[in-house]
Amino acid sequence: MISVAIDGPSGAGKSSIARRVAARLGYTYVDTGALYRAIGLFAHRNGIDDTDEAALAPRLGEIKVELFYRDGKQHVVLNGEDVSEDIRKPEMSMAASNVSALPAVRAFLLDLQRQMARDYNVIMDGRDIGTVVLPQADVKIFLTASAEDRAMRRYKEFLGRGENISYEEVLEDINRRDYNDSHREIAPLRPAEDAILLDTTGNTLEQSLDLVERTIRERLQSK
Ligand code: DC
Repeated sequence: MISVAIDGPSGAGKSSIARRVAARLGYTYVDTGALYRAIGLFAHRNGIDDTDEAALAPRLGEIKVELFYRDGKQHVVLNGEDVSEDIRKPEMSMAASNVSALPAVRAFLLDLQRQMARDYNVIMDGRDIGTVVLPQADVKIFLTASAEDRAMRRYKEFLGRGENISYEEVLEDINRRDYNDSHREIAPLRPAEDAILLDTTGNTLEQSLDLVERTIRERLQSK
């Protein structure tokens, strides 16, 4: 099985790019952020403080997270309910970032992610795929862009979904999450030593897609 790891900060275009490149290559796209979002949603719905490991850890046994694919789109199922839309609410971003800093949550999701890579050719996107989840990945890409570019992308996504949020709020959220995700003690956001760094600032989606696809094909060929 072939594994491609794509890591990078929030809003760098990882999911849009990884999903489309996976379709071009015929691989399964695994959006691991969605798994952390599902845990964040569980905490939120059950009134559990998403920063409180002592409160959340004993409840993880009640959680079953599954992924399925329809029309090339990943769906996330939390205890039998398709929560793919609920996890995209703006407030779930911070909840996901908070639960993702808890070691018990990271350990809980590790097996599921590795199992996906054992079963399928995958393009997996996240923060620690190349460093922790799949250190043996065939290709590792670290995708980034300026915070302003990333915030603008997210802002447009929210607008398209009718969310009432300002660009400034989205930028602030991006900056807070960048800090959170790269300063946590466990599996912080950082490029793997053997990752290829790609910066998509100013690119159109099409340009970034071509860049990522070309990079993957070249790296696989040279192996
Ligand atoms: O990619 P996203 O915005 O859906 O991710 C939501 C949060 O989950 C993000 O703030 C960091 C965390 N995350 C993580 O810690 N490790 C991953 N592999 C994926 C996401």
